[in-house]
Amino acid sequence: VTRVISGIQPTGNLHLGNLLGAILRWVTMQDEAPCLFFLADLHSLSEHVDPGTRRANVREMAAALIASGIDPAKSVLFAQSAVPAHAELCWLLNGTARMGWLSRMTQWKDKSGKNKEGASVALFDYPVLQAADILLYRASHVPVGEDQKQHIELTRDIAIKFNTDYDTDLFVPPEPFIGAGTAARVMSLRDGSAKMSKSDPSDMSRVNLIDDDDTIAAKIRKARTDPDPLPDDPALLAGRPEARNLVGIMAGVTGRTEADVCRDFAGQGFGSFKPALADALIALLAPIRGRLEQLRADPTMLDRELAAGAKRAAEIAAPTLDAAYRAVGLR
Ligand code: TYM
Repeated sequence: VTRVISGIQPTGNLHLGNLLGAILRWVTMQDEAPCLFFLADLHSLSEHVDPGTRRANVREMAAALIASGIDPAKSVLFAQSAVPAHAELCWLLNGTARMGWLSRMTQWKDKSGKNKEGASVALFDYPVLQAADILLYRASHVPVGEDQKQHIELTRDIAIKFNTDYDTDLFVPPEPFIGAGTAARVMSLRDGSAKMSKSDPSDMSRVNLIDDDDTIAAKIRKARTDPDPLPDDPALLAGRPEARNLVGIMAGVTGRTEADVCRDFAGQGFGSFKPALADALIALLAPIRGRLEQLRADPTMLDRELAAGAKRAAEIAAPTLDAAYRAVGLR
């Protein structure tokens, strides 16, 4: 691992899927390699958001990342729009990316739905900007949830085609770095076949960082399950997606394996498992929420950290951007 980069869209709302799939893993990686983490605020232009809300969301998400353990003294933390090199490299890579590649992205297909004519160009071009985010820093590893794998593979394709077309070795094709087990794809609490998502209309489908203890307990109590007791081996959870998801969440939240969790609760029903899961979630989330509230009270500090992060990111990005311009025959 030579350099790590990852980003998150600044919506006002960080959920358990983001935490287990990405952010808590970023926190661990900070001690293992040079890391950059950013708020993907340019990506947020793929959907219409009121400007005041967009601005507030960037600060709120920066605070949530720091509260979760991202340390601006260890990692470079910044807002994407504060480093113009992202948008510039995106444009250079637009010459390399193919319409066919982008048309096959499942995020594009899902989000544009039946209304391709009415979708924004930014939604279509979204993965090229994501490729720019990664290639700009010549990052080797991109810690993400399973849902981002296709975008990282596209980034590899873009890097390889650019290098071939312009006879250079400028870009490093990155590896997706996806967690093991349920953490890679935390599912909805209401439907074991849908991923936990900020866009799910039902708030009962997810645990949010900002949920208070009672809300967390209620969401777990009402989470969909089946009537069978827990088995002593996670392999026996096949065909029981909701049960499997809750066991996986318990493992992720307590830092243990799914086998450990099954061993502890073998033979017990969800009537005793759910309260234990709610307690484990509250033990993880309540301190993060407390720090978040303190950080919100100090926007000047947040802005200062983000400005320092942007300056540092821009310094790292500059030589790659310059080399990319020169590779295509500009500058
Ligand atoms: P975003 O903002 O949707 O999600 C942030 C991170 O959380 C992960 N994630 C999940 N992991 C497990 N289970 C879930 N239910 C779940 N839901 C979300 C995501 O996989 C992601 O790692 N396109 C990206 C942001 C981005 C980016 C980048 C990431 C922009 N540029 C460059 C890496 C590198 C996105 O929308 O993530």
